Amino acid sequence: MFKPKFDNLWGTGQSTIDGILRATADLIAGKIFVVAGYGHCGRGVALRAKGLGARRVIICEINPHRALTAALEGMEVMPMREAAEVGDIFVTATGCKNVINAEHMKKMKNGAVMCNTGHFNVEINIPDLEKISVSKREIRPLVDEYTLEDGRKIYLLAQGRLVNLACAEGHPSEVMDMSFSDQALAVEWIVKNRDKLSGMGSVVLDIPEEIDRTVAELKCKAMGLRLDVLTPEQEAYLSGWAEGT
Ligand SMILES: NC(=O)c1ccc[n+]([C@@H]2O[C@H](COP(=O)([O-])OP(=O)(O)OC[C@H]3O[C@@H](n4cnc5c(N)ncnc54)[C@H](O)[C@@H]3O)[C@@H](O)[C@H]2O)c1
Repeated sequence: MFKPKFDNLWGTGQSTIDGILRATADLIAGKIFVVAGYGHCGRGVALRAKGLGARRVIICEINPHRALTAALEGMEVMPMREAAEVGDIFVTATGCKNVINAEHMKKMKNGAVMCNTGHFNVEINIPDLEKISVSKREIRPLVDEYTLEDGRKIYLLAQGRLVNLACAEGHPSEVMDMSFSDQALAVEWIVKNRDKLSGMGSVVLDIPEEIDRTVAELKCKAMGLRLDVLTPEQEAYLSGWAEGT
């Protein structure tokens, strides 16, 4: 639970913006911010961009559930071929390849900035970018300026690799502590339950709920969060079907 729901969402969300800001020193407020992919990472980035005052946050998605979620969370949704024409800053977070191609780059505004926080360096089609450019120069560390045939300039951060790792410091330890605790306790659980698990072959198992709960309880305690506790009456009500409308 902690990896996707906390570290991908809040960790990648914040550190991606951190990477963009450290690389470009751009102002997010007033910008048109495009995010490809509204999964855990993309949603985190989009929410942070909105919080920093982006004038419009546009989501490009292939999954209707994710697209709906984005729309109901106040984002615009449109295909990349339309977003390409209006965006100031583009972030890919899909796990897919060639999400931004020459057909999109050719439509981008002068000064558009592209970066990736998803998969390796394949989400932005760099061979395409090289092909349609007449020149390239590094104008700041990890900021490459590409000049297109008509003189427009578009910028690629971190050579298309994960911008939060290349241009910033990755996720804050305050979110990684939950992922690492969850993973360490999961390994301990596997070792303790090895007899039950042997013979299952190669399977992917969910982390047992009690481990997620233990980590959540410890994190709440560390953050000084105090919770309500169910009364016996409430526990009975929630676990039975005898009462209710
Ligand atoms: N930068 C980091 O530190 C960091 C941290 C965690 C994960 N990641 C990487 O980020 C990527 C996304 O992770 P996630 O947890 O958000 O995954 P996810 O599966 O929750 O989200 C990916 C989203 O992208 C959408 N998508 C896929 N192909 C698309 C396309 N061609 N165009 C538009 N949308 C498309 C999917 O529908 C999905 O909603 C993965 O590659 C993952 O390895 C990076």
